[in-house]
Amino acid sequence: MKTRILQTLKEHKGYVSGQELCDALGISRTAVWKYINKLKEEGYQIEAVPNKGYHLLTVPDVLTESEIKSRIFTKWAGKEIHCYNSVDSTNNAAKTAAEQGSPHGALFLAEQQSSGKGRRGRGWVSLPGTGIWMTILLRPQLEPSYASMLTLVAALSMSKAIKAQTGLEAQIKWPNDVVINGKKVCGILTEMSAEMEQIHYVVIGLGTNVNIEEFPKEIQDRATSLKIESKKEIERVPVICAFLSYFEEDYENFMEHRNLSGLLEQYNKRLVNCGRAVRVLDPKGEYSGTAKGVDSTGALIVEKEKGETVAITSGEVSVRGIYGYV
Ligand code: BTN
Repeated sequence: MKTRILQTLKEHKGYVSGQELCDALGISRTAVWKYINKLKEEGYQIEAVPNKGYHLLTVPDVLTESEIKSRIFTKWAGKEIHCYNSVDSTNNAAKTAAEQGSPHGALFLAEQQSSGKGRRGRGWVSLPGTGIWMTILLRPQLEPSYASMLTLVAALSMSKAIKAQTGLEAQIKWPNDVVINGKKVCGILTEMSAEMEQIHYVVIGLGTNVNIEEFPKEIQDRATSLKIESKKEIERVPVICAFLSYFEEDYENFMEHRNLSGLLEQYNKRLVNCGRAVRVLDPKGEYSGTAKGVDSTGALIVEKEKGETVAITSGEVSVRGIYGYV
């Protein structure tokens, strides 16, 4: 109901009378007044003038279910939203909810994470209000080997959302970091629960640095934020909504082909590694080559110095010129 009140206030540029809200939503004036007060508590500035009604003056950059729902037009992505002020990790929250039956597309967001998780067991600094710390829950009818491709899909959708909302050229560092001007702005951690033949669920956690003004010296050459790159404060909710909308479309494309073939052109266009010298840190022996792009399985195609091509699905790939590597 709060979302519908918010939507109605947003649809009207000026005042909406209390009676109009009651009639449109089928609730009492007291109920309208209660919901308006809840919105005010969340930081919305709403003017109430006798005989005129309510007028929405400003919308805060808060991560609330009502705010996000009032701005998305997706079929399933973000249809169920859980917002936390503070949580250990949105990936953990999503996994717990998945075990309890939360649906495909449910979204988990936090203003801050007390134990944000990065890849390879690292932590992820998630301070209040400065970023988008979110996880989307998926229930694909797929074998476990497909899960890693979903991470590439999410990286593509996030790079498109950043470009659409900020105009910044967000590229992808294979397989799943989003980078701007060679520095990481978003990292993705995918976890899943599965048996041999079937995924139970996948959670894709995306950490996007939005309004962080400065990074510790040790990572300044590798990390950036949307604010640093655009030199202005960026609203988080429009980026989240754009991501949900692109992701729904990209995920459906992926599921239709059961591979990345329908997204390859878009992915490779944004791939920062393309045409660059890379050093492949293969446990069986390191070698150098030139990255040619990804194939429909998400593997990075590397042309070795002698002309032979290899498809890399695992192991660390370091890219010259990116993140200050070699
Ligand atoms: C990386 O190491 O690059 C991946 C970082 C992923 C961070 C995000 S923030 C939201 C979600 N919850 C977590 O605990 N981690 C992911």
